[in-house]
Amino acid sequence: MSTIPAIQPTHSPLPERYYLHTGAAAAPRLGLLHTIFGPGTEHVLRRAGIRSGMRVADIGCGVGHVTRFLADCVGPSGNVSAVDGSDDQLEVARQTTSGTTGRVDFVRASAYDTTLPRGAYDLVCCRFLLCHLQRPLDAIAEMRALLRPGGVLVCEDMEASTLTSIPETEIYARMGEVARQGGSRRGTDVDIGRRLPEYLVNRGFADVRAALWQPAYFEGEEKRFWEYSTLETGAHAVEAGLVTEQEIAERAAAMREINLDPAILLLLPRIWQVWGVKP
Ligand SMILES: C[S@@+](CC[C@H](N)C(=O)[O-])C[C@H]1O[C@@H](n2cnc3c(N)ncnc32)[C@H](O)[C@@H]1O
Repeated sequence: MSTIPAIQPTHSPLPERYYLHTGAAAAPRLGLLHTIFGPGTEHVLRRAGIRSGMRVADIGCGVGHVTRFLADCVGPSGNVSAVDGSDDQLEVARQTTSGTTGRVDFVRASAYDTTLPRGAYDLVCCRFLLCHLQRPLDAIAEMRALLRPGGVLVCEDMEASTLTSIPETEIYARMGEVARQGGSRRGTDVDIGRRLPEYLVNRGFADVRAALWQPAYFEGEEKRFWEYSTLETGAHAVEAGLVTEQEIAERAAAMREINLDPAILLLLPRIWQVWGVKP
């Protein structure tokens, strides 16, 4: 595999911030996200070797859906450290994980400086975190530092440009590029999924593997995921002056029309699942 320079993806004049809801307001969309991507996440974590008794960390844990699965897997003899930058997310994550047999510690910290013990974890994972970061390579370096030698890092993230419909529609032909430009303005890379294999190789991981997961729907709430995400992220982007309310409303309305047409198959962005071992 060719290597790429270890540069951060974009240079935005804007400070880093999270352009989605947090806490109770985030729960419905993140619940739908987990319905869509949860089976793939569970599959890749099993392939990466998750098992009873492990010490694991979930970075950017959100409202705790992956955390819950990890805690069920590691059981009472294992331990999960769930890290997020938002207290509101962690509050909901506590409820999501209540009743699991695994032990979960919640830590409010930055993905760049998790404050977790170094060299201590058997497995570290992050899902849909890196696409929100201006310095994803620094976050990967931090996660690597948490692993013991032989420990596994599992990263899942999207390649937004692969959003499309069959047959092609004007709005969905445009939305991948809209997302890419929005990310670029915010200093983040919404196509980061495709770069993860090289990022892990560049950061010194061994035995790097990759799998792809691209859900497709003719109908249902899942088909509306990108429409809902556009409205949610749009609210924050409007507030930051990056886009107008009218632009967001027009895009969402156009997507809604397609989403309610059962003759059109919608392909949500493909998700890259990439994992590797710390030598
Ligand atoms: C899209 S959510 C994904 C949540 C969860 N991993 C999942 O897949 O359901 C991204 C999460 O990353 C958190 N986050 C974003 N930037 C962060 C940072 N710099 N440090 C720590 N957490 C961050 C957000 O608060 C949010 O909960």
